[in-house]
Amino acid sequence: MTTENRELIHWIPGFETGHPELDAQHREIIEKANEIAISGAPDSSIAMRACQELPLLIEKHGIAEDKVLAEIGYADAEQHSRTHTDMFGQACSISKECDKSCMTQATATCVPDWINIILDHFLRQDLLFKSLMEERLDGR
Ligand SMILES: [Fe+2]
Ligand SMILES: [Fe+2]
Repeated sequence: MTTENRELIHWIPGFETGHPELDAQHREIIEKANEIAISGAPDSSIAMRACQELPLLIEKHGIAEDKVLAEIGYADAEQHSRTHTDMFGQACSISKECDKSCMTQATATCVPDWINIILDHFLRQDLLFKSLMEERLDGR
């Protein structure tokens, strides 16, 4: 199967927050999720590893983003931080489930779940602080 047939997350300029560290982490998370989508049976070792690594990347990113949002004085920083905790919890569940059965499929069945939580983070949560980030970065 070619990668065109796989469910992948494509980076679009709209995901850009303007903050280099956060954007690099966002890209890394997408790349890791895409590794799961691209690899799979018969050799699922890369996908398995990616699936185990994703929760850690997500946790690390949440901590970094919380810090940046506190620094720029984002009013909803606390509420936003809770979404990171939730996302990490969901990532751990997906990853744990994954060990059991999903990698025996040609395309890991956890892929839609990863896409869901990652796009929710970008489109529903992180876009909320984007305009403040732009203001702060312009004012440097
Ligand atoms: Fe976030
Ligand atoms: Fe983020």
